[in-house]
Amino acid sequence: MAIHIETERLILRPVLDTDLEGMFELDSDPEVHKYLGNRPIKTKEEAQKAIDYIKKQYKERGIGRWAVLDKTTKEFMGWSGLKLNTKEESYHPHYSDFYDVGYRFIKRFWGKGYATESGKAAVHYGFNTMKLRSINAITEMGNTASHKALLKIGLDYIEDYEFEIENQKFDLRWYHIEKH
Ligand SMILES: CC(C)(COP(=O)(O)OP(=O)(O)OC[C@H]1O[C@@H](n2cnc3c(N)ncnc32)[C@H](O)[C@@H]1OP(=O)(O)O)[C@@H](O)C(=O)NCCC(=O)NCCS
Repeated sequence: MAIHIETERLILRPVLDTDLEGMFELDSDPEVHKYLGNRPIKTKEEAQKAIDYIKKQYKERGIGRWAVLDKTTKEFMGWSGLKLNTKEESYHPHYSDFYDVGYRFIKRFWGKGYATESGKAAVHYGFNTMKLRSINAITEMGNTASHKALLKIGLDYIEDYEFEIENQKFDLRWYHIEKH
């Protein structure tokens, strides 16, 4: 059974090939990528690759970020949810095989509490359905909106660290929440 989660204002469901236009709008915006390495995409093929990558995670890791839709209009707004950070691609020098909560929204949907609302639903799913013991998150330093959303979701800010991804150095922040 495919995931279908409803919150007050949102629907969370698996990312589909039909999300291509929305994914392109999301990932081609330089402002969206300001704290993601500043490498917005330029083509629909790259958007399709991003979709394929998430679908591969559903298959191989049992989980991946979900598409977020407006409950009323069914419009694609972005994605949110859990990801399993494997050893090959963990954005932390010491930890791997942890689940993190993350989100990315098309700019016109920012500032309305959707990261918080979808992130809370993802953490709830992780603890109650997947029976995880803990969940992490990572942001780039300076991404105040994401930092604030994570705290509102209930994560604790733990520490800052430096990390190199594809020859780019990042100042990152590490967050943690445990199931009570
Ligand atoms: C980060 C992001 C997902 C936040 O989504 P959002 O739905 O706007 O977040 P929320 O509305 O749930 O909460 C954001 C909080 O930060 C605040 N905020 C929003 N933009 C801000 C900004 N530019 N500077 C400071 N605070 C900001 C909001 O006011 C809110 O806090 P408040 O409730 O105390 O007022 C969104 O900005 C985004 O998609 N950014 C691009 C991708 C990205 O950076 N993803 C996260 C990677 S770690």
